[in-house]
Amino acid sequence: MAQTTLTRSTRARETTVAMKILMAVTGVIFVLFVLMHMYGNLKMFAGPEAYNGYAEHLREFGEPILPREGLLWILRVALFTSVVVHGYSAFSLWNRARKARGTPYVNKHPIATSYAVRTMRWGGVIILAFVVFHLLHFTTLHIEIGGDYQALSPYERMIVSFEFWWLWLAYLVVMVTLAFHVRHGVWSSLATFGANKKRRERAINLVAILAALLLVVGFMLPPTAILLDFIN
Ligand code: HEM
Repeated sequence: MAQTTLTRSTRARETTVAMKILMAVTGVIFVLFVLMHMYGNLKMFAGPEAYNGYAEHLREFGEPILPREGLLWILRVALFTSVVVHGYSAFSLWNRARKARGTPYVNKHPIATSYAVRTMRWGGVIILAFVVFHLLHFTTLHIEIGGDYQALSPYERMIVSFEFWWLWLAYLVVMVTLAFHVRHGVWSSLATFGANKKRRERAINLVAILAALLLVVGFMLPPTAILLDFIN
């Protein structure tokens, strides 16, 4: 009996760790994409040819071995799979933790439902909603802000969009949310891999904060320059 209980709890712990690893791996894939995307957006400062050329290059990359947009589709599938796995694991881990804590009446304010955990949950929901809006806006061009998108180049679409202060503000809110999410994610995944030994904790915290700051500043530079008319 004791043996069975032990095996079961060991297995449960293994599954929990496996899910945390899955979250970390898919999180890293997402962060890599986001950094690449940020770098691409910064090409707005190099002018319309550079930016439009980059957008076009993304579509041609890998030709003729891959069809047009081949690499882009591989990236899209990898990203979509990562989001689904990341979200599913988050949900199951949350459910496991909730069950493990027992009845909500006994433990109404459990330590684990800390500020960070709630921030992660809501952050995840906000980021997901943003990505849906973002794709309808800049990729499928169903949401047109500031002009007739079919008639505009990718560079011009960025310009006409971020001339609206409210869109700039909405992006700022999402980028700060993303930064918090990544900051905690970096910290938490390093904890899963056991890297947060006391003496390294400070360094890890610093890396997590720097990564978060880099995201906010790097992403907000082009929209801010557009809003302030530095690029047009
Ligand atoms: C200030 C921040 C951002 C700006 C100005 C921005 C701008 C853009 C633009 C202009 C495109 C279309 C590119 C093209 O026409 O080739 C795009 C695509 C995309 N963006 Fe962003 N983006 C930002 C942040 C983000 C973030 C934080 C995420 C993810 C969480 C994201 C995810 C995507 C995705 C998935 C695509 C579609 C790529 C594709 O499949 O073609 N973006 N973005």
